[in-house]
Amino acid sequence: MKGLQGKVAIVTGASSGIGQGIAKRLGSGGAKIIVDYVGKPEGAEETVRAIKDAGGDAEIVEADVTSTDAVHGLVNAAWSVFGSADILVNNAGMEKESAFWDTTEADYDKVMAVNLRGPFFLAQAFVRRLRDAKKPGQIINISSVHEDMAFPGFATYCASKGGLRMLMRDLAVELGPLGITVNNVAPGAIATPINKSLLENEAELDALVANIPLGRMGTPEDVAGLVAFLASDDGAYITGSTFVVDGGLMRNYREQ
Ligand code: BGC
Repeated sequence: MKGLQGKVAIVTGASSGIGQGIAKRLGSGGAKIIVDYVGKPEGAEETVRAIKDAGGDAEIVEADVTSTDAVHGLVNAAWSVFGSADILVNNAGMEKESAFWDTTEADYDKVMAVNLRGPFFLAQAFVRRLRDAKKPGQIINISSVHEDMAFPGFATYCASKGGLRMLMRDLAVELGPLGITVNNVAPGAIATPINKSLLENEAELDALVANIPLGRMGTPEDVAGLVAFLASDDGAYITGSTFVVDGGLMRNYREQ
């Protein structure tokens, strides 16, 4: 894909699932990758190994996106290790299931901190560096079909992803004059650790897959291809939009 060669991409939550798929894809396409993770480093090491095996370059940085100091450290690491940064993929995310009336303040705060506050202040740190260096850039947020579609039992997740949708739209307008594009990629049901309990429950999984017109869960690679396109030269004129990758899930309504 044209235009990834030599670019530097920061990918949050790149030690597993969709983030790992994106890091590998951008890395094998020639971008140098800052592989962000939190907690156990094994997944991040695996991501770096795969990128290096494909002839690319990557560096691991542990940074919790809920900490403002940590997100500044993450952006600074890109500049000190690779000399700059061009692409930010806000991928790290989480969800917590609870009935609305039982949802705790702690769960609300945590989900919003990871899914919305993190991307907000990481994008701010990234944009400040680009602005000072007078460089263009690209921000791609991994949102969800639930930035637009209800998900009963997951009100905090929906609120965070709905917020991410409007953050993207606002920033596309505000940052356009700096040459910075901002878009969301909205995955549907992708087989990753965020879905662990669903994947282990055969009846629930069958019911979900029955709602997907393409008849299967998505894979991290299905999402990574779209991200790579947006990050390439072919995505240069695209900003302010959400791109859904869900096997048709969002469009499906059926009476039983
Ligand atoms: C959620 C999954 C869910 C999927 C489709 C994703 O954003 O993380 O838990 O299965 O949307 O509803």
